[in-house]
Amino acid sequence: MKIINVVGARPNFMKIAPLIRAMNDRKDRIKHLLVHTGQHYDKSMSDDFFVQLGIPDPDINLEVGSASHAVQTASIMVAFEKVLLEHKPDLIVVVGDVNSTIACALVAVKLGVKVAHVEAGLRSFDRAMPEEINRILTDAISDLLFTTEESGNENLKREGIPKEKIHFVGNVMIDTLVHCLQTMPDGLPYPDLRENEYAVITLHRPSNVDHPDILRNILNAFKEISRSLKLLIPLHPRTRKNIEEFGLGEELMDIAQNANVTGPIGYMEMLKLVKNSRMVITDSGGIQEETTYLGVPCITMRENTERPSTITLGTNILVGSDTGKLLSAVEQVKLNSLNKGIIPPLWDGKASTRIVEYLIASIK
Ligand code: UD1
Repeated sequence: MKIINVVGARPNFMKIAPLIRAMNDRKDRIKHLLVHTGQHYDKSMSDDFFVQLGIPDPDINLEVGSASHAVQTASIMVAFEKVLLEHKPDLIVVVGDVNSTIACALVAVKLGVKVAHVEAGLRSFDRAMPEEINRILTDAISDLLFTTEESGNENLKREGIPKEKIHFVGNVMIDTLVHCLQTMPDGLPYPDLRENEYAVITLHRPSNVDHPDILRNILNAFKEISRSLKLLIPLHPRTRKNIEEFGLGEELMDIAQNANVTGPIGYMEMLKLVKNSRMVITDSGGIQEETTYLGVPCITMRENTERPSTITLGTNILVGSDTGKLLSAVEQVKLNSLNKGIIPPLWDGKASTRIVEYLIASIK
């Protein structure tokens, strides 16, 4: 069975790493190639993750880079079609919800190549999010849909996906987390941070960082939080660019008086920093899941989440872009008055193995 695995952007790398390991364990049945679309290309957003997560170098890099949604998606499609025509796989595996995910799935389905979507069925019900469109469309055209939580199964059934296509397997991101926890070295990577006495902040969603007033307001709230709690803020390139463009450098400098403001940091470093933090403030999707697994309080700066089990079972609360709610959530965490949480079903480090067995069974 010949498989092409696809990655494009940072959150894809931790999802593909355990799948490649599980495929290597079944070399008797599976040959696989790795295609990187090049959606993310900075060393700190891409190469460093390959090294830390033990992902082999991509066999093919489409090198599409950054552009508008239409140009980026279309460039990936044009380049990926050539790859499929040349290599003729039986199946492609796409993960998550980035532009690379839908672009490659669409090319494959039109060429009659089967598509497996890992992390299927998640829905924020917010069509202003580009990822929501990517999820709905990818799920609608995939042949095998691997879900991480019960809400995913329900969403897909409601959208009319036949239940034979849906496989509840657990969470490949947690496979990577479990794997990496075993080899994580001791000690925090910043000498001025002390266990349980700092917050990690990540912010990159268009809804939070693409409007000057909203971003200014959020930075002011971070400054307020930094008066009583040390912060670690690894800035996404998109956020850094907007801070410069909107003239908010001074606001950032103010926060930096009691914060480490860095560029993107590697997976291992981030995992360690999150695990040992007092709390996390984020608008990321994956970090909501990682904090739930680790039992670290997570304050999510979004109006909704496509990962509701992190709220119903885990440690997550939503505050949107409302800085009043953010500040009061921070106080609640300090008072230990938030849910301690439990680990959702099948987030056990073995999702990739389950997926690979389904893939083998799918091609007779
Ligand atoms: C993408 C994903 C988002 C994911 C995020 C994680 C889509 C629609 N969005 O958003 O779901 O949570 O990745 O990071 O696919 N840039 C660099 N270097 C890079 C990559 C990007 O400087 O290596 C800058 C460029 O200015 C670019 C901007 O970041 O224009 C945005 O990159 P893009 O890939 O379009 O979307 P993200 O915001 O990263």
